[in-house]
Amino acid sequence: MASRWIRGIPKLFQARHRRLWRFYVLLAMGRLLVPAYRFKWPQMDWWEDKSFNRYLERFGESGWLNTDRRWMLSQLLRLTEAVPGDTAECGVFKGASSYLICSANVQSTQKRWHFVFDSFEGLSAPVGSDGDHWKAGDLTVSEDLVQQNLSDFTEFSLHKGWIPERFPDAAERSFSFVHIDVDVMEPTRDSVGFFYPRLNDGGVLLCDDYGCTTCPGATECIDAYLEDKPEKMIALTAGGGFFIKGLQTRADGFAATSDQLKEVGV
Ligand SMILES: C[S@@+](CC[C@H](N)C(=O)[O-])C[C@H]1O[C@@H](n2cnc3c(N)ncnc32)[C@H](O)[C@@H]1O
Repeated sequence: MASRWIRGIPKLFQARHRRLWRFYVLLAMGRLLVPAYRFKWPQMDWWEDKSFNRYLERFGESGWLNTDRRWMLSQLLRLTEAVPGDTAECGVFKGASSYLICSANVQSTQKRWHFVFDSFEGLSAPVGSDGDHWKAGDLTVSEDLVQQNLSDFTEFSLHKGWIPERFPDAAERSFSFVHIDVDVMEPTRDSVGFFYPRLNDGGVLLCDDYGCTTCPGATECIDAYLEDKPEKMIALTAGGGFFIKGLQTRADGFAATSDQLKEVGV
């Protein structure tokens, strides 16, 4: 095994392998600096997607830290193309996710309105289960900035207030896609409770904070809400989780046994 690696070393210095070689150096440095950090192979074609990269740069995200979650959101929106209903985001910050949602709505054959709920005064106060990562008022952004960032679109409305104060504005609507991203437990719980019954079959509810160690309260309250529902959250590799309304998900975590893996040739 080791000799195969050693024989491969000269190849790494060829120009066509330079990128891979640099990646291995990065990997070695990462192992030293942050041993628990998990790198992944860098051969994703979507990393080269020009219009997606332009979108990231527009929102000052060319440091790529949110890239996976933004891409995942754009892909999950595609799942809902045939589902009737409006869209909503709880917790908008500068509008980067709402921008993707409005872009999908404009391209959709369905007629959709996008509802945005935010305090525009930052996060509400964390409670016990939220831990100590966040504090009240973090991530404050002005309503004007969001209005400006979404000015390419017309079919949306901003509903300023502490969740759930302004939810009655959307009480008569049904939804195809809902994005919840308020970081702390109480507004996450209220958002899931309001939108779950209004989500049409096949609709997607995505929570950006699910499964993130910085947002334990969000994960806990969603799991509690879904306990007696057929859908359970699918946790994503880059953080966040989603379910599809009406699609039964196994309640118990599926872990393949070694026998099952042998059956499929692993
Ligand atoms: C992480 S940011 C949202 C990021 C955004 N979804 C994105 O993709 O860029 C959290 C947002 O939730 C809002 N927020 C937090 N708690 C809230 C509450 N109780 N009511 C209304 N808005 C809240 C904050 O004002 C902030 O804009």
